[in-house]
Amino acid sequence: MVGRVQPDRKQLPLVLLRLLCLLPTGLPVRSVDFNRGTDNITVRQGDTAILRCVVEDKNSKVAWLNRSGIIFAGHDKWSLDPRVELEKRHSLEYSLRIQKVDVYDEGSYTCSVQTQHEPKTSQVYLIVQVPPKISNISSDVTVNEGSNVTLVCMANGRPEPVITWRHLTPTGREFEGEEEYLEILGITREQSGKYECKAANEVSSADVKQVKVTVNYPPTITESKSNEATTGRQASLKCEASAVPAPDFEWYRDDTRINSANGLEIKSTEGQSSLTVTNVTEEHYGNYTCVAANKLGVTNASLVLFRPGSVRGINGSISLAVPLWLLAASLLCLLSKC
Ligand SMILES: *[C@@H]1O[C@H](CO)[C@@H](O)[C@H](O)[C@H]1NC(C)=O
Ligand SMILES: *[C@@H]1O[C@H](CO)[C@@H](O)[C@H](O)[C@H]1NC(C)=O
Ligand SMILES: *[C@@H]1O[C@H](CO)[C@@H](O)[C@H](O)[C@H]1NC(C)=O
Ligand SMILES: *[C@@H]1O[C@H](CO)[C@@H](O)[C@H](O)[C@H]1NC(C)=O
Ligand SMILES: *[C@@H]1O[C@H](CO)[C@@H](O)[C@H](O)[C@H]1NC(C)=O
Ligand SMILES: *[C@@H]1O[C@H](CO)[C@@H](O)[C@H](O)[C@H]1NC(C)=O
Ligand SMILES: *[C@@H]1O[C@H](CO)[C@@H](O)[C@H](O)[C@H]1NC(C)=O
Repeated sequence: MVGRVQPDRKQLPLVLLRLLCLLPTGLPVRSVDFNRGTDNITVRQGDTAILRCVVEDKNSKVAWLNRSGIIFAGHDKWSLDPRVELEKRHSLEYSLRIQKVDVYDEGSYTCSVQTQHEPKTSQVYLIVQVPPKISNISSDVTVNEGSNVTLVCMANGRPEPVITWRHLTPTGREFEGEEEYLEILGITREQSGKYECKAANEVSSADVKQVKVTVNYPPTITESKSNEATTGRQASLKCEASAVPAPDFEWYRDDTRINSANGLEIKSTEGQSSLTVTNVTEEHYGNYTCVAANKLGVTNASLVLFRPGSVRGINGSISLAVPLWLLAASLLCLLSKC
């Protein structure tokens, strides 16, 4: 039985003592290769990392360590982690293979070789990369014009992803901001729309998500068309308003609300309304008001249904057409001082 005791096991306490002295937390007693610098190995999360180590003499005492302890001492596995194995493609190789690498595997690893004369260590630093992923982004928001809006976009990844915001306007114009937080002070209606957050690092393609910002504002009438019509014909008055939420329309004849009845028809779609007189008679001529309203405000515009032959003034007011001959006559009269 005595002859079968493995020399490795017998000498382990001594080896261990030496190894522990080489842990980065303690001061290395003698470290020939320590000042050589550290090699970096970069591996993506989920991939397999192979940390190379080659010994010069196959009788050397070898071990793999990380910051918290011994992973392998010789061929004895100390780590309980099933992802960790030795990779020995030839008798002098003593590499460490870590499968399904995760972020907590990042750190320095030491291959320690104990020859007869001196201990040698080589250190590698394992860097774990993670593709960018947006973890939290603001939900779609609706605000009133003039409000302050803060959009937030958070992302994970290694290295830390760079976050970029873009405003996707209908014309494709973009503005950029570079922060997790995008602050819009006193938002305007032009700043409504979709905002895109992009999280990028060099590991893989960027992660992209969008937030929709709706800016409410009170109606303004953008177009109101007076019209001219002969009796017996059909005629329409049209009114357009810009508002968010979309405006509701009402029509008035002087101070009286008009409903779709008695040969009058009101048709309103988003942002537009028309009043149609199906058979114009004398009493239809005159002044109408289009009223556009939403929860933020109300506005109106005045429109006129003209009798043919009347002339539209600058403000849509009616001025009776003055026959040309009458003008000429008055001019003549003035000149001749009649
Ligand atoms: C290893 O990476 C660190 C930063 O992650 C860097 O400062 C160092 O220069 C790198 N070392 C080598 C040998 O590339
Ligand atoms: C060091 O290795 C041990 C055993 O494999 C493992 O449990 C621990 O997470 C590792 N620590 C670091 C910082 O890699
Ligand atoms: C996202 O961020 C907001 C604001 O910081 C927070 O209230 C919310 O709980 C976060 N959601 C998730 C899923 O982390
Ligand atoms: C928006 O932010 C500015 C500057 O921080 C502040 O002065 C202003 O009162 C805020 N406006 C609103 C509506 O909260
Ligand atoms: C329009 O009204 C007039 C008078 O009421 C009527 O004579 C005429 O037939 C109507 N025309 C149409 C197209 O309905
Ligand atoms: C149109 O607007 C004016 C001025 O705001 C207001 O005095 C008037 O009552 C409005 N007319 C209607 C029909 O709402
Ligand atoms: C039509 O009515 C509105 C208010 O009801 C008034 O402000 C406007 O001057 C009138 N237009 C005409 C041409 O009478």
